[in-house]
Amino acid sequence: MALADFFSANDIQAISGFGSLSFHAMGDSGVGTPEQHAVADAMSRDLNVSHPEQGPAFLLHLGDIIYGPNKKAEYANRFYRPDDNYHNLIFGIPGNHDGEVRSSLDDPSLSAFLENFCAPRTTVTHGAVIWPYHAQ
Ligand SMILES: [Fe+2]
Repeated sequence: MALADFFSANDIQAISGFGSLSFHAMGDSGVGTPEQHAVADAMSRDLNVSHPEQGPAFLLHLGDIIYGPNKKAEYANRFYRPDDNYHNLIFGIPGNHDGEVRSSLDDPSLSAFLENFCAPRTTVTHGAVIWPYHAQ
């Protein structure tokens, strides 16, 4: 992966000119509690709207995005809803709970993660739009 896969040439020039790139990192958000919503809102306040290159360029989710069964259906309430004010690119690394298959309600291992984090292009999944940070 390269910055150019996700950022425009102008964005990369601005980041280079600023001299550093920062990003958020978090994990274990898999339930979608009010506290997780508050964390996402706090991170959203770190974003710099007028100079995006001076704020976190993206969020790296460190795994366990969704706990429990029926993960594809739970993404809307446990991931997209708590993060609805966080308007930034989000990369994900699957955790053990993202790959678990523990009941007949579970989809094949990692299928929900792949659908939401590895889509080849902008897509709408479960009512949420996934799009590049700076659509070109
Ligand atoms: Fe975990």
